[in-house]
Amino acid sequence: MSVIIHNAEHIATATDVRDLPAPVLPEIAFGGRSNVGKSSLINDLLARKKLVRTSNTPGATRGLSLFRVQLAQGSLDLVDLPGYGYAQRSKAERKTWGPMIENFLRARAGLRAVAVLVDLRRGLGDDDRMLLEFLESIDRAPILVATKVDKLAKNARQTALAQLKREASLTPIPYSTEEHLGRDALWQAVLRAVSLGAPQG
Ligand code: GTP
Ligand code: MG
Repeated sequence: MSVIIHNAEHIATATDVRDLPAPVLPEIAFGGRSNVGKSSLINDLLARKKLVRTSNTPGATRGLSLFRVQLAQGSLDLVDLPGYGYAQRSKAERKTWGPMIENFLRARAGLRAVAVLVDLRRGLGDDDRMLLEFLESIDRAPILVATKVDKLAKNARQTALAQLKREASLTPIPYSTEEHLGRDALWQAVLRAVSLGAPQG
């Protein structure tokens, strides 16, 4: 079972939510620590190698980036968020980072859910907990995703997934861009969140 993507394109990047185009479509945002694999995961979901810039070096994504996706079922926007926990930012950047993300998550009328990505090797960190608590406080639905599961052996995965589930009180979707694991499961969760029908077949 797989989604059919007719088109995917970058439509805007901004550091202030007010500079983004008005939300005309339902949106799903992708948040998490810097380097956790947000941009890679969006490329993988969209079956594109280089639509979204990724990097080995944390801090690759600096602004809020909107990607418009046309599926057989309808259209939606995916929003790539800059990662947290990245110390090498300039002072000015660090000062604007929190409000940039918070304002977006609070104010964005089209937002239907926020995928919270956690590196399965690291488990749930304080900053991840803060994001989940913040989402709960503003009544935004989280979708928990465990990334880079290929970095763990099969039985270590199960242990780590069970621990993450316990700590977050949410069932994580295991994901690996290397092993092409989790794509269908995450699409199902995304389609449900934006109320588009699940793909047939
Ligand atoms: P920021 O933009 O800095 O917040 O980072 P990001 O969360 O967007 O991470 P990005 O997608 O740029 O990926 C960071 C690094 O992790 C890159 O070197 C990716 O190739 C690698 N990576 C991402 N997903 C996976 C995965 O599933 N498995 C493995 N082994 N590596 C991955
Ligand atoms: Mg990124």
